Amino acid sequence: MKIIKKFNKSLIAGCVTVVLVVSGCNSHQGLQQQALPEIAPTFSKDILLKNHFAENFKIGTAISKAQVLNSADPELRLAAEHFNTFTPENSMKWESVNPLPNEYQFDVADALVNFAKNNNQQLVGHTLVWHSQTPDWVFEDDAGNPLNRAQLLKVMEIHIKTVAGRYAEQIFAWDVVNEALNEDGSLRESKWQQIIGDDFIEQAFIYAHQAAPNAKLYYNDYNMFKPEKRAGAIKLIKRLKQKGIQIDGVGMQAHYSLDYPDFNEVEDSIVAFAATGVDVMVTELDISVLPFPENLAEGADVSLDVALQQQYNPYTEGLPIEIEQQLASRYQNLFAIYKKHSESIGRVTFWGVSDKQTWRNGWPMKGRTDYPLLIDRDMKLKGFVNSL
Ligand code: XIL
Repeated sequence: MKIIKKFNKSLIAGCVTVVLVVSGCNSHQGLQQQALPEIAPTFSKDILLKNHFAENFKIGTAISKAQVLNSADPELRLAAEHFNTFTPENSMKWESVNPLPNEYQFDVADALVNFAKNNNQQLVGHTLVWHSQTPDWVFEDDAGNPLNRAQLLKVMEIHIKTVAGRYAEQIFAWDVVNEALNEDGSLRESKWQQIIGDDFIEQAFIYAHQAAPNAKLYYNDYNMFKPEKRAGAIKLIKRLKQKGIQIDGVGMQAHYSLDYPDFNEVEDSIVAFAATGVDVMVTELDISVLPFPENLAEGADVSLDVALQQQYNPYTEGLPIEIEQQLASRYQNLFAIYKKHSESIGRVTFWGVSDKQTWRNGWPMKGRTDYPLLIDRDMKLKGFVNSL
């Protein structure tokens, strides 16, 4: 705790200079940008994130459908330069690849697989079994009646074998099960859990291993720093291991804000997860700078959709320097922890390429202007990146 606080203070002072210097450069870079051909990268090549963190961990981002369908998209090109691992933001979720019974749509997922291959990016599949972004038909028969355990297991098996099997040689790792835990560490009463029982998780990992025997298999969730949820995840990991079921890693989503969470708890979870013998992945990192209505900053429940209130959207005209400094300080503290434990952390993936297209502009309230990533709206690295 003490060490982190001290580190924080000294870096805040350093960061003021860095931020000022970089914002002074912006207009110059802006002029350069105009002269470049349309699809040329618009960023400085001085720092590439993947080189900056090469000694520590792989560094990744989520790629959207819009980006992957336009190979000239500047954000896709920027992502290809800066990151050495990609995760599809939505395009491998159940509703995207298997929207209707017996109907698979792989065009976007295939395009991403090909792009990643051609650019030497490691691809992480996201996600096979989740309660969100999964169509209702999955849990029902043709007449709309709920499936029984055996029927739903069959649906799960076919889906996992079709999707993970299709990319068995191309996808490095899968988030096999996403968000199966409640905040108190108990199992969420999703339709998966209600119909199949608690062992739907075991079954998903078994099918994933059968479909893609060389892929790493992960359990992924948000709020994994919370002691109760941490304990629930550890119980889960141990349960699978005791049964001899392959589980290689645990994903900590990391949708954070300026004052949430306490990073000491994040560190405690990294240490505790690593002690179970699995790899620790930071799978969906972003730090919102915006104020939140009470309790809404916490977690990443994608079903939240709160009406826009301007008091929660204060930076539409730009980010005040003191807020950027707070963001810098948060990132510095977090990366100090990640680097300290880099032997346990295989990958740090941001959830999005730039502030322009981050999902945070639309969650949990649509229409806000947020600044949660390392790359700004002009597709330039933020000044404090040097200090991470
Ligand atoms: C989000 C996407 O970023 C959004 O575009 C989509 O509308 C909802 O899902 N946890 C996860 C991710 O595991 O898949 C979610 O991604 C964010 C929270």
